[in-house]
Amino acid sequence: PHTAIIVVAAGSGTRLAGGAPKAFVGIDARSILRHALDGVFAAQPMQVIVVAPAGFEGQAESDLLAAAGERADLGRVVTGGATRQESVSAGLAALWGDIDTVLVHDAARALTPTAVIDAVADSVDGVAGVLPMLPVVDTLKKVDGDMIVAAIDRAELAAAQTPQGFPRGALEAAYEDAREAGVEYTDDAALFAAAGHAVRRIAGSERGFKITTQADLERARHLLTASAP
Ligand code: C5P
Repeated sequence: PHTAIIVVAAGSGTRLAGGAPKAFVGIDARSILRHALDGVFAAQPMQVIVVAPAGFEGQAESDLLAAAGERADLGRVVTGGATRQESVSAGLAALWGDIDTVLVHDAARALTPTAVIDAVADSVDGVAGVLPMLPVVDTLKKVDGDMIVAAIDRAELAAAQTPQGFPRGALEAAYEDAREAGVEYTDDAALFAAAGHAVRRIAGSERGFKITTQADLERARHLLTASAP
């Protein structure tokens, strides 16, 4: 394949307090990482780089092998860094072969539908980045301390999900720019846009939410129970 997906799973998960790094907390019998990888391996064949927390590479390897089935030769585990950006960089450094499109995916978005992963992979055109997004339903305000300073028109806003897709060369150059500038971005689309590139949006999914808190974990459990046969 000419497409790779970097699944970042090296976060500590302090807000979830699950007793293990977040990616290894169980949703049901399967971990957050395993569910994320089940979605990834159900998509079109692509190289899969799992970025694991230091000391948890073996556990990540087990989840990878279990999810990969016959595609085990497409997967690899590497060790992540102190920030998400460093973890993605470690993933980029581990790509092998003839890859021209790179997707970056949060393991924490464990229930992201395979259709979204395929749609992102199919939408990268060699120039622009691609970002799955959802409309914003909350009423948002701009604040300063405890004062509301402006209303925000939510029609102008959308919420970003992953996987985010990019042409490989331009993404690697943008990561190099960010490293030299010493700037930390909250997602890859922001880092890519800061390097002067266009980013397009496609439709995300309600199931692509990020598991951050215990309530998010309960929501994921409920969704799995509700969709069980
Ligand atoms: O902390 P948060 O949930 O926003 O992290 C988003 C994703 O980035 C998670 O899947 C997490 O495992 C990953 N991450 C990482 N390395 C870090 C921090 C976060 O791979 N140092």
